Amino acid sequence: MNENPLLLFNEDRAAARAAVDPMAELCVMATVNAEGHPQARTLVLRSVDDSLILYLNATSPKWSEIEASVAIQTYWPSTGVQYRMRVATSLLPQKRVAERWQYRPEPPKQLDWLYQHWSQSSDIGSRAALLEALEQAKPSMPGAMPDTAKGIVLHPVEIERLNLNHESGVHDRRRYRKIDTLWHHTTLVP
Ligand SMILES: Cc1cc2nc3c(=O)[nH]c(=O)nc-3n(C[C@H](O)[C@H](O)[C@H](O)COP(=O)(O)O)c2cc1C
Repeated sequence: MNENPLLLFNEDRAAARAAVDPMAELCVMATVNAEGHPQARTLVLRSVDDSLILYLNATSPKWSEIEASVAIQTYWPSTGVQYRMRVATSLLPQKRVAERWQYRPEPPKQLDWLYQHWSQSSDIGSRAALLEALEQAKPSMPGAMPDTAKGIVLHPVEIERLNLNHESGVHDRRRYRKIDTLWHHTTLVP
């Protein structure tokens, strides 16, 4: 077994993709809001050149929460493997965000423009009001991306892998911690 947990994560995710797991591209990201309440939401988790990347909008409340602390979790029912990661984050260069943004479908692109007037997760009152505001949310230039569309790179500092699918029936649970540049692991009671 590869003891670099990021390589292991990529191998496990490839197995979930091969099994056409509907969760293979997703994660749950947890943060803590200003009142100290936990917040969790599903996001698409991209892997690009061995980096894990999330695409977000900086008008969302989660944007300021990310600075404090972030954890992500994945679970692939097809293979019975869960990962939990505590991560540091850095900004993906805006040029790379814009390259990727061009391939988004129209509705999420339009939403990114709407967020200029109505922050993501703000209360707009009704679906009718939302649809009307969307109609009016137009880019300043055709094809342009608003600057609040962001990408963040995840830098895991602690990774836990839980494998439910062990032939003995006893789950295998390991925690990996990065010390300097090396990963060290230990076995946890499942
Ligand atoms: C399958 C799925 C994928 C999603 N992917 C994203 C995503 O990549 N980026 C994003 O900002 N929100 C995504 N969302 C919406 C978020 O779960 C969340 O509702 C939204 O980001 C608002 O979060 P906030 O309340 O923290 O601002 C996704 C939701 C689902 C169900």
